[in-house]
Amino acid sequence: MFHMQLVSGGLRSVLLVAILGIAGGCERAEPLQWESAALIKGLPGEIPKQIQEVVVEHSGTAARPQLVSQGPPTFDFSLHLKHGQEVYMRRCVQCHGVMGDGNGPSAAFLYPRPRDYTRGIFKFTSTPYGGKPRRADLLDTLRRGVTGTSMPEFRLLPKKDLEAVVDYVIVLSQRGELEYQLGMEAQAIEEFDPESVPDFVSDVGRRWDEAESTLTQPLSPQPELTPERVALGREAFLTKGCSKCHGEDGRGQTKDNIGADSWGHPTRAADLTSGMLRGGQQPIDIYRRILNGINGSPMPGFSSALQSEPETIWNLVSYVLHVSDRRRAGEIIPAGLVKPFATSQPVGDTTDPAADADASGQ
Ligand code: HEC
Ligand code: HEC
Repeated sequence: MFHMQLVSGGLRSVLLVAILGIAGGCERAEPLQWESAALIKGLPGEIPKQIQEVVVEHSGTAARPQLVSQGPPTFDFSLHLKHGQEVYMRRCVQCHGVMGDGNGPSAAFLYPRPRDYTRGIFKFTSTPYGGKPRRADLLDTLRRGVTGTSMPEFRLLPKKDLEAVVDYVIVLSQRGELEYQLGMEAQAIEEFDPESVPDFVSDVGRRWDEAESTLTQPLSPQPELTPERVALGREAFLTKGCSKCHGEDGRGQTKDNIGADSWGHPTRAADLTSGMLRGGQQPIDIYRRILNGINGSPMPGFSSALQSEPETIWNLVSYVLHVSDRRRAGEIIPAGLVKPFATSQPVGDTTDPAADADASGQ
């Protein structure tokens, strides 16, 4: 009996300590810290420290973030970025990670992987191939989410939160890209060269600034998307190289359909019949994917190939929309290879790895 009381008394105090500990932990939460990427930490001698100093000078610290492209922020912009950081730490960090490297705690379970912003590459842009996104593109992505992936839509967040978190994402991206560029150069020449710093800094900033004024407009105005255009679009799809990756029926079941993205993850050409266009369902969204390509993925831009036949792009848009509506219209189409998990399957093997994934309950 006495023994029992001791135990429960002991348990109670353990609980109390635990509760106090948690409450105390909240009050004295460690301030947020930014860290160097593993690539940088692995460089020899003084290099990591030298790079870290440059990065802090141009991107600030977690306590005082700043845009490489703008330098030290004004008081108001500083508050705006801190607000963006709060939104980010509440709603994005579990996938995109503290440093924006796409390695949040949930990332390992997700395909496609959450975007690693630190390479400065974004897929759904309205700028020419290889360009940075405009702020408006990132806002669109947040409002719409990325259909068919785990990236949620944040349509209901107040505009103030969305704008702040977009600028914070740009801070993480510019910081990460600056660090990455300096790291790659130091690795190549086996030392840190302070003279190269100004070029890297201005390059990272300039390309974001440029994006704001390089919105790509359609080469010809949007026509009515008629069944005739769908038929012409199908022809172009088969003759302009699209079917090589996406398959004749748009399901993406071809052997050229396997590749890696710029972040080193396996990827496959989209199954267009899935009806889940990641970069938006509007004709202009699809138009821009075809004209500008999809950065970081094997999908090339067709702006030079189709420069002299702008109507063909609208025909392709009509065809893509038609194909992506087929399932919705009730047609039964076997699944395409939409799950490009790493597999030991040789390229060209026709057994469907998606079927394995299904069998294992995913
Ligand atoms: C549940 C996981 C998850 C959460 C939470 C999440 N994302 Fe994402 N995000 C993703 C995935 C996955 C992708 C990649 C989609 C792809 O590659 O098609 C992505 C892509 C992006 C992109 C890149 C778009 C492009 O053009 O390349 C941006 C920007 C982005 N997310 C911002 C955010 C922000 C800001 C938040 C928080 C407000 C957030 N994400 C929350 C999973 C998530
Ligand atoms: C070299 C291979 C390749 C070729 C050629 C190619 N694509 Fe793609 N395409 C891809 C890949 C890979 C993706 C998936 C990109 C991603 O989201 O990561 C894709 C995605 C798409 C998407 C989906 C965009 C979205 O918002 O989700 C459309 C539409 C598309 N391609 C149309 C076309 C058309 C039309 C052509 C020909 C003019 C074409 N593709 C040629 C590889 C290719």
